[in-house]
Amino acid sequence: MLSPDVIKRAALLREKLEYHNHRYYVLDDPEITDAEYDVLFRELVALEEVHPELDDPNSPTRRVGGKPADGFVPYEHAMRMYSLDNAMNLEEWFAFTDRVSKGIGNDDVAYWADPKMDGLALEVIYEKGRFVRAATRGDGRIGEDVTHNLRTVLNLPLTLQGSTIPDLLEVRGEVVISNKDFAALNQRQAEAGGKIFANPRNAAAGSIRQLDPKVAASRPIRFMAYGIGVVEWAASLSSWMTQKEIMQGLKGLGFAVPPEAKLCKSKQEVAEYFTFLMESRATLPFEIDGVVAKVNNLEMQRGLGFTSRAPRWALALKFPAQQVRTKLNSIRIQVGRTGVLTPVAELEPVQLAGVVVSSATLHNKGYIEERDFRLGDTVLIQRAGDVIPQVLSVDMDKRLDNAEPFSFPKQCPVCHSEARVDGEAVRCTNDVCPAKTVQRIIHFVSKAGLDMDGVGKKWVQRLAEDAVLVSPADLFSLKKTDLLKYERMGDKSANKFIAAVEKAKAKAPLWRLIAGLGIRHVGEQTARTLANNFDNLEAIGLVTRDQLQELEDVGPIVAESLFEFFQSDEARQLCERFRQAEFWPTGGSALAQRAEGLSLSGKVFIFTGSLPNMTRDQAQALVEEQGGSAVKSISKKVDYVVAGEKSGSKVAKAEKLGLEIIDFAAFMELIQSLKPKSKPRSLLDF
Ligand code: IVH
Repeated sequence: MLSPDVIKRAALLREKLEYHNHRYYVLDDPEITDAEYDVLFRELVALEEVHPELDDPNSPTRRVGGKPADGFVPYEHAMRMYSLDNAMNLEEWFAFTDRVSKGIGNDDVAYWADPKMDGLALEVIYEKGRFVRAATRGDGRIGEDVTHNLRTVLNLPLTLQGSTIPDLLEVRGEVVISNKDFAALNQRQAEAGGKIFANPRNAAAGSIRQLDPKVAASRPIRFMAYGIGVVEWAASLSSWMTQKEIMQGLKGLGFAVPPEAKLCKSKQEVAEYFTFLMESRATLPFEIDGVVAKVNNLEMQRGLGFTSRAPRWALALKFPAQQVRTKLNSIRIQVGRTGVLTPVAELEPVQLAGVVVSSATLHNKGYIEERDFRLGDTVLIQRAGDVIPQVLSVDMDKRLDNAEPFSFPKQCPVCHSEARVDGEAVRCTNDVCPAKTVQRIIHFVSKAGLDMDGVGKKWVQRLAEDAVLVSPADLFSLKKTDLLKYERMGDKSANKFIAAVEKAKAKAPLWRLIAGLGIRHVGEQTARTLANNFDNLEAIGLVTRDQLQELEDVGPIVAESLFEFFQSDEARQLCERFRQAEFWPTGGSALAQRAEGLSLSGKVFIFTGSLPNMTRDQAQALVEEQGGSAVKSISKKVDYVVAGEKSGSKVAKAEKLGLEIIDFAAFMELIQSLKPKSKPRSLLDF
């Protein structure tokens, strides 16, 4: 029998995890650390294991994908999912607005405009606030039931938030993959010899239309809501009157919505918005292919109705295509940090989406063979968002008679060692290939690693060529005079270079160091997990493959790769040298142990209004030094609200929640009353 306490605890944990998922995946503003999240998550996993009766398909623990479905079950939409008519230019837009004005007998129409997300259309259904079903659009009337896959989509609420929740809610939206996630996904696929996706849309659609939810769970899919189907409210509640209210309502219920959406007061404003979005297209995190403009007033929408295919109250204003044809002049082979040989197309330079493109990726050997790219071919290239351009296909009509198939090199073009096929990837077999070294150091200093802003790629290349940099550890022994030997290195750049290294040395967290090492299959997520579980770099090398596999997100392949790396001489030498350079960040378990002894351990602060004499970052650092943490949004979890000058709504909210509110003077008193403790740099210093 389940005790009421267990039921209550599981419900509380599920609610908390959902809340923190939303903060992390939808608001991009987490309140707790990954390690704190893991503690809650593991407690729920353990509870569910001991009490299988707690079974709930909507439990956050199920987000990793359950059993594969037998086949797609057709799902009939309660309200048809229409398509949209397109405008290819602004003239067509104004023609549409004329029809709208005529239809409603009024020229004064406001439009809700949002980006046209390029993904897969989907409907997700909630009964009494609980996620119950998801289906693709299909032919608009009948789609495929993909509930099992949507459960793995981490930014989709499984339980709706807020106090005003409809009895029934059908939400429509687009399943997408961000440009950044897409680039990383294709990179992973290329290295593992998996399928290369042509664009984020295909990757998103391909991930959802899968029977095995584990596939969807492993892909970085997001759901962005843009509208509704059937909605039923309890009698006493009022419903939404405008598109704007719908979108605000959906956001409040916990959905991610398209960025940059806007209420436009006139058709002219929509035209301006279209131009604005086209220009900022490349800076958006997602692939978009136009603007969707919808009559804002729902009463007017109802009056206009639908044609056989699309609403008369909405239109897609499409951007010009991001594809163009050009000549493939040659194929260059690039050697990456893991030794993978990546073919790059050298193209006849062409204008594409506002930039000149002269090279594009061909991914791997298999990609070239499947699509049969040959030198001299006319090829179709595409630039998607800020993703590297890629070559899509060959125009066979323009193939030259004497064009020979491309023969992929069997040797590394840099060190001439043997290059071996490894899945679909081809790898240089030389561990000390200079190309690998350069790429490894470039990765080490990049945003994916230690984020040393000021250490330029070109300079790393140059210094590596001259053997000034042979290992990432050499960065820490570089002196300004070493840099100034180069004619083109000015005093300012040299200072910036050294300062960036020093900053990383003083501030970089352990996860960045781990991620910066470029160990195969170890990206930011795994690095963060490791940093939360190990005291320092060396400690990772002291455990077995099995122990590594016990960690969240670490499967047999990742465990093997980590184990192999940390047993290598290279890893031992690196540890030794980082330690000597006094670059030795400490990780989660050390932090936890250290925090336990500190006076503000577990205490949560929030700063609001302006603080005299210090920035919020400085105030936050004071709190963290004593084992506490600072958050940005107010909740019952907050222990102290530090109210500076002009602190507005947060204080009112804090009062409502009954939180302790202190002024800056009281905060400083509190900090100064605590015993000063020095911050050890490493566990060994304890
Ligand atoms: S509204 C009844 N808004 O575009 C009209 N659609 O080409 C419902 N799409 O099937 C569509 N972003 O999947 C709307 N912000 C947005 C959109 C959007 C992408 C997709 C949608 C639709 C397709 C039509």
